[in-house]
Amino acid sequence: MKKIVAFNGSARKNGNTQFLLNSFLEGAEKSGADFDKIDAHKINLDYCNGCLRCNLIKRCSIRGDEWNDLSLKILESDVLVFATPIYFHHVSGQLKKIIDRFRSFVHVQITESGLKHTPHVEWDKDFVLLLSLGSSSNEDAQPVIELFKYMVEILGSKNRLHVITATRLGVTKQVIKTEDELVALYPKLGLSQNLVEGDFQKNQQILTECFKLGEKI
Ligand SMILES: Cc1cc2nc3c(=O)[nH]c(=O)nc-3n(C[C@H](O)[C@H](O)[C@H](O)COP(=O)(O)O)c2cc1C
Repeated sequence: MKKIVAFNGSARKNGNTQFLLNSFLEGAEKSGADFDKIDAHKINLDYCNGCLRCNLIKRCSIRGDEWNDLSLKILESDVLVFATPIYFHHVSGQLKKIIDRFRSFVHVQITESGLKHTPHVEWDKDFVLLLSLGSSSNEDAQPVIELFKYMVEILGSKNRLHVITATRLGVTKQVIKTEDELVALYPKLGLSQNLVEGDFQKNQQILTECFKLGEKI
């Protein structure tokens, strides 16, 4: 049975990110996977303090927060899901706080030609990135995609990255709204109603894509 650790990086109630993640997890559940869903804004986690002791002791030295339990779950998982709204071209702050703690999984050495990363254990995992953004193009999500390409690479040569992006989503529940609801909403957002038919289909397709990826993985 596949084990999934899924991070929800949105604190917004009924946020679009959650619907992408829920669709993914419904698909995963259908194929019998076991999952832990973690709301990034709710867990008790300190910031990485940059002590770099992880280079020596191969684990994070911070004690008294939830990282110890969480890091064990992460290490045991087959699939890691990161669902986040795009905030200022990046992941949400609460998700970044978790990502920085991933530093403790890798030995880092400064060399003349740049940083050399060696994972304490070579991972062989699927990384899934589910991104919700307000912009009409994927451009604002590129820094996040680059970050994850880098993470996947430094944590093990066999890791795989899967990315799904959902654009032009501004208000809560937008990704699950009916065509009629979008017709009423778009003028309020200053968007042309001509966009509705295509956007409705796109939203449905994205939710299906999330479900199918969860099912496949
Ligand atoms: C603080 C903040 C920063 C944002 N920055 C961007 C951005 O840089 N690019 C973009 O396309 N959307 C941006 N957005 C819009 C959200 O990414 C978008 O509405 C997303 O669908 C929200 O997801 P949620 O409903 O799960 O919270 C921003 C929203 C907030 C609140």
